[in-house]
Amino acid sequence: MRIVNVPLGNRSYDIKIGTRLLERLGKQCAGLNFGKRCAIISDANVGARFGKAAQVALKRAGFEPMLITFPAGEPAKSLKSVQACYDELAAQRLERKSFIVALGGGVVGDLAGFVAATYLRGIPFVQVPTTLLAQVDSSVGGKVGVNLRAGKNLVGAFHQPRLVLCDLATLVALPLREYRAGLAEVIKYGIIYDAALFERLERELPNLLRRDTKTLGAVVARCCEIKADVVRQDETETGLRAILNFGHTIGHALEAISRYGKYLHGEAISIGQVAAAKLSARVLRLPEAEVGRITNLFTRAGLPTSVSLSLTQRQHLVEAMKLDKKVSSGELKFVLARRIGQVEYGQQVPARMLAEIINS
Ligand SMILES: NC(=O)c1ccc[n+]([C@@H]2O[C@H](COP(=O)([O-])OP(=O)(O)OC[C@H]3O[C@@H](n4cnc5c(N)ncnc54)[C@H](O)[C@@H]3O)[C@@H](O)[C@H]2O)c1
Ligand SMILES: [Zn+2]
Repeated sequence: MRIVNVPLGNRSYDIKIGTRLLERLGKQCAGLNFGKRCAIISDANVGARFGKAAQVALKRAGFEPMLITFPAGEPAKSLKSVQACYDELAAQRLERKSFIVALGGGVVGDLAGFVAATYLRGIPFVQVPTTLLAQVDSSVGGKVGVNLRAGKNLVGAFHQPRLVLCDLATLVALPLREYRAGLAEVIKYGIIYDAALFERLERELPNLLRRDTKTLGAVVARCCEIKADVVRQDETETGLRAILNFGHTIGHALEAISRYGKYLHGEAISIGQVAAAKLSARVLRLPEAEVGRITNLFTRAGLPTSVSLSLTQRQHLVEAMKLDKKVSSGELKFVLARRIGQVEYGQQVPARMLAEIINS
């Protein structure tokens, strides 16, 4: 088992990465000074697969778990689900020391984390991420929240988990398309922070694609270390944390104009990162050879790297970028790469240059 600590003073916690961690869930929670009662929040797919094992593990350690599940998919990340959770928690009399276990992908993690952040003004929670995206990204860093009809993640809080358990064995069941989408975030860490990780991914992609646990363990741990390092320096995103959004301005806009159906998040940011790399070549002189390596790695991972849009769609794309909540005072700013492993945030890109990249 690998352990990565997220050092945030009295809100510090460990991310534990390995196999057969789900069956040790109870034991892992035992040292954390929680009350007996707890709620596992999950979705239908993950609940059916791993809900029982989580409950058994918690009971064995003396906890009294209840299981709340929602239909799988983004629509579960809603205030309606939050309300349903509050009602269940109150009916089962969960109190201040009770805790929540988020068992699932990013949807479940964001929803369960938001419930934990707000029920009784905040109770502890544990993340048990079961998608690659959730293990390397959404379960770490304390951003929790739900969607409104007006847009994604518009209601939320910062609430750090008390523990993150990444059981690599759960990833075996993940559909290939979801797994590849997670690789888009993995590759992102190489580009923004760690050239050696990027090289490792170039070398070991075949092992990763067959979900080899040894390779996965090392790679997931490195991604978590990077995220922890960024979050430690800028927990509430006043500056540096923005680098985690490399490729996301274009990616989010693409998700928005395709109404969150066509592309998975990872696919949209794969296209977004390749576009950001091309912008980087113009603005920060990222060498063309590195743009090529970036494009090639996403392609080898089975991810899309370009999209053909009609003129109207291109206009909508730019409008959607301006609506992204990370845009302040209407100015489009990007995270751009100087070279693989080093990026700069807050980079202004002339509208004309952006249009050229989008049109190409
Ligand atoms: N809080 C953050 O910092 C942060 C960061 C990135 C993304 N997010 C959020 O994460 C969400 C996306 O998360 P996601 O990509 O994990 O999607 P997801 O939670 O919808 O999971 C994807 C699909 O895989 C299924 N699944 C999950 N684990 C499985 C397993 N082990 N075996 C078989 N099937 C499994 C789920 O039921 C679902 O159908 C978005 O809502 C996004 O906004 C949050
Ligand atoms: Zn992302």
